[in-house]
Amino acid sequence: MSSPISTERHGDVLVITSDNPPVNALGAAVRTGLDAAIRAAVADDAVKAVVIRCEGRTFFAGADITEFGKPPVDPWLPALVDTIEASPKPVVAAIHGTALGGGLETALGCHYRIAVPSAKLGTPEVKLGLLPGAGGTQRLPRTAGIEAAAEMCATGTPIGARRALDLGLVDRLAGEDSLTADALAFANEVIAQGPRPTRALPIKGAPAAIKAFAEANAKKFRGFDAPAAALACVEAATRLPFDEGMAFEREQFTKLLFGAQSAAMRHIFFAERQAAKIDGVDKDIALRPINKVGVIGAGTMGGGISMNFLTAGIPVTIVEMKQEALDHGVGLIRKNYEASAAKGRFMPEQVEAAMAALTPTLSFDDLADCDLVIEAVYENMDVKKEVFGKLDRIVKPGAILASNTSYLNIDEIAASTGRAGDVLGMHFFSPANVMKLLEVVRGAKTAPDVLATVMALAKKIKKVAVVAGVCHGFIGNRMLMPRQVESMKLLMEGATPAQIDKVHVDFGMPMGPFQMSDLAGVDIGWHRDPARIENIRDALCAVGRWGQKTGKGFYDYDDKRRPSPSAEVQAIIDDFAAKAGMTKRAISDEEIVERTLYPMVNEGALILAEKMAQRASDIDVVWIYGYGWPVYRGGPMFWADLEGNDKIVAGLEKHGFTIAPLLKEKAETKGRFTA
Ligand code: 3HC
Repeated sequence: MSSPISTERHGDVLVITSDNPPVNALGAAVRTGLDAAIRAAVADDAVKAVVIRCEGRTFFAGADITEFGKPPVDPWLPALVDTIEASPKPVVAAIHGTALGGGLETALGCHYRIAVPSAKLGTPEVKLGLLPGAGGTQRLPRTAGIEAAAEMCATGTPIGARRALDLGLVDRLAGEDSLTADALAFANEVIAQGPRPTRALPIKGAPAAIKAFAEANAKKFRGFDAPAAALACVEAATRLPFDEGMAFEREQFTKLLFGAQSAAMRHIFFAERQAAKIDGVDKDIALRPINKVGVIGAGTMGGGISMNFLTAGIPVTIVEMKQEALDHGVGLIRKNYEASAAKGRFMPEQVEAAMAALTPTLSFDDLADCDLVIEAVYENMDVKKEVFGKLDRIVKPGAILASNTSYLNIDEIAASTGRAGDVLGMHFFSPANVMKLLEVVRGAKTAPDVLATVMALAKKIKKVAVVAGVCHGFIGNRMLMPRQVESMKLLMEGATPAQIDKVHVDFGMPMGPFQMSDLAGVDIGWHRDPARIENIRDALCAVGRWGQKTGKGFYDYDDKRRPSPSAEVQAIIDDFAAKAGMTKRAISDEEIVERTLYPMVNEGALILAEKMAQRASDIDVVWIYGYGWPVYRGGPMFWADLEGNDKIVAGLEKHGFTIAPLLKEKAETKGRFTA
């Protein structure tokens, strides 16, 4: 096989080029080629300086993640970076696209760095449960400074080339279209200066910045191992000689690499990319153009959905029944944009551009020329059928018609049109402009190009999309149901809302089932008859405990929305339990896990067997991006594999659950759901 590395002489300068699509990951072949090219340059008297650049869409985007966990292949990256740095001839990195992780570390091994203004530089290893393991934690404090190094290594968020220039991480900016020429000129200039090994540079900044940064971000890093380890390495750089700092970094990196968190997070990295692939649909299928989107309903959901498209520069026509509701909805969209602008996430002119692309209307007829219409009205089958019947008559042929329903049957909705092939579900998660997940529900008759178009569109509006089949609650909400049912039963048996929620928060979820109920509204789906009290939830609603919005739900809330346990709620629970003849007992945290989390795995196994999800990793993606399942636990199916499916089955059997056949099979064969 030919090497991804090639070289070309330009006068005194040797240009080394990597061409390893798609992202120039630093796999073994790239490392071997780079190592040989640098050694050859050093040995060649005619070469006075070196430029390292990449072909394709990006500079090296990091180590090759697929190699992690496999036996190491020489030359390993830290040694290669050292070889580059040790070159007696100056080496210049020419950066475009994204210089990430090992890619940035390779650039840090170079003596000088030039980048196009659009380039991004970062150390995203923490997002894989790792830390920069090829000297990033030691060389960044010597180039970008301690404070920026701490931020980059612990958050993984990349910085732009201009900020990198201000920090001293990059030496100069190239023209956007003249990187190679500008890098050559730079290399010729630095021949006189000679090499400038990063390891020999002094540390920049004050070590106190690390502790301050850790404290300010403690909440964000809760549960994650990697950020603290990355900060410890940056701190080590401030007090240890370079080689000792490197040894410390290596020790920390290795510990993380073989830990459960990194395995989980690497699983999710690939799961997210896999989710975009639709089984049985040609990946090159022609997509339908989506240049204009219609949204029906200007409530919280419709408004949030619209914002996704407006932000991506796609015009939206939004329809409501009454002027007042329309005005309110449009006002809310503007308010949300302005709040983002105030936080610096948008420029004021971007807010105006987004608002100018929004057409509010009371007339369905204005949807006629939309390429995609998303219905986000009241969750009621008759209402939805009426809306789709109307759309069928009005909207141009070939347009895609989508429902944002969270539970209802897409096939039944599609049957109310004469074009079921153009119909599917687009289930957004609230707040729809923030949450990354989109469940794309494939109806029995949904055309392959319709599905492929919406999956591609999801990427454009920066969502992580997962294909789901038609079943009650699709993937996410269907798995939520057994958790809710068991949580209510546990209350009757003696657990408290606070205890159950704490178990979930300690597990790493952003909130527990009762906190979630209070946030979403205890009254969702309530029959609204205060006299009809059949369960605890009815009783809470009857006394106005509708959740945070009424200041009380499963918890009492103060004026800052801080929750505290409620005596009234406990009395209601006790009353129900007594009427049901239950004797209260102490419930262990372990039982809560077995009865609220294990049944989710069981439901996931049913979903898989019924082919309502394409693959187990899709289920994990749903729970990570839609419900805040801790990414360092890899999603429910990966977590079950790690716990051991036999342990999950034993736990479920202890509490009398019916075991899904697929889960049983995994338990008996010691098999896994995920790769
Ligand atoms: N290793 C192996 N494969 C990678 C990869 C990597 N570092 N980065 C991306 N890929 C693969 C993806 O899996 C995907 O494969 P597929 O087409 O088969 O699904 C393909 O490349 C394209 O990736 P994206 O779909 O993500 O392309 P985008 O253009 O949307 O994004 C990117 C490009 C921003 C570079 C993004 O791919 C990314 O963030 N990659 C990961 C970067 C990273 O984490 N680097 C650090 C690695 S760890 C490290 O370097 C350790 C060192 O410190 C020792």
